[in-house]
Amino acid sequence: MQNLINLINSKLDEYLQINYPSDLFKAMKYTLELPGKRLRPVMCIETTNILGGNIDVILPAACAIEMLHVHSLILDDLPCMDNDDYRRGQLANHKVFGEANAVLAADALLTYAPQLIIEKSNGLSDKQLIRILYEYTKFAGAYGLDAGQVVDIESEGGKLIKSKEETLNFIHLNKTAALFRLALKTGAIGADADEKIINEFDELGIKFGLAFQIYDDIMDTISSFEELGKTIGKDENSQKLTYVSLYGLDNAKNKFKNLINECYDIINNYDSKILNEIIQKLDKRIAKG
Ligand code: IPE
Ligand code: IPE
Ligand code: MG
Ligand code: MG
Ligand code: MG
Repeated sequence: MQNLINLINSKLDEYLQINYPSDLFKAMKYTLELPGKRLRPVMCIETTNILGGNIDVILPAACAIEMLHVHSLILDDLPCMDNDDYRRGQLANHKVFGEANAVLAADALLTYAPQLIIEKSNGLSDKQLIRILYEYTKFAGAYGLDAGQVVDIESEGGKLIKSKEETLNFIHLNKTAALFRLALKTGAIGADADEKIINEFDELGIKFGLAFQIYDDIMDTISSFEELGKTIGKDENSQKLTYVSLYGLDNAKNKFKNLINECYDIINNYDSKILNEIIQKLDKRIAKG
């Protein structure tokens, strides 16, 4: 997996060169180049790989999805959102570049990502390209990430239109699972897989995404700044609606474990060391407590 992460890091650097105005490009590159886990691009590329596709063809789209993710992290940390000063072990983007340039850098990543897919994806058919761009726009916006983030922020003040359970599920499905669905579907589309397989990886994105946000919620209560590289205990302080706050730590762990087992059920149909490694790592960390 480390080889794949190294490849993604070198491609991210290659695809995003400093240009004029350098303040914008520096802010875009800053959070992008900090040591994230690169889960979404790794899962995207690995999906193409296990489905018999050519990974070179999907590299630009995988890197674009990491850019979209970083866009979401920069916005998530702003004072008007989660108000976090640290990200990936370093100062948050707005702490280094100011709020205006952080917002603009996030916006520029969101829009450069599809530009990159169009410019650099050699080997995708027009049909694949349009499908990938469609999935990108859908999961990034009002039918995905943005919808989840709005309800996440609203829920802080206890403003609920639906039940707490339904609201929490909506938040996790949209703010987090959306990008895993995008990553896995894009990987499957890149391999020109048939619709049944694309749907199976979409389902994996839902299960893994929900599990991953529960993992993140649990880690916010049991981990440390040193391990996570971001402020701990933020969810409780801001009275976020999370699995831990709604169901308690033990129930959150059980829910996580059930979802992880459902992920294994899907990936066991495929021979993927990397997908197994990712899931096992999360599973072991939560089991450790
Ligand atoms: C953080 O995602 C935001 C959530 C969806 C919980 P990651 O934990 O994948 O963040 P990086 O990319 O490793 O920094
Ligand atoms: C994750 O929500 C979703 C996004 C960042 C889009 P969190 O607010 O829990 O993420 P962290 O914990 O700040 O990484
Ligand atoms: Mg948040
Ligand atoms: Mg946050
Ligand atoms: Mg969190």
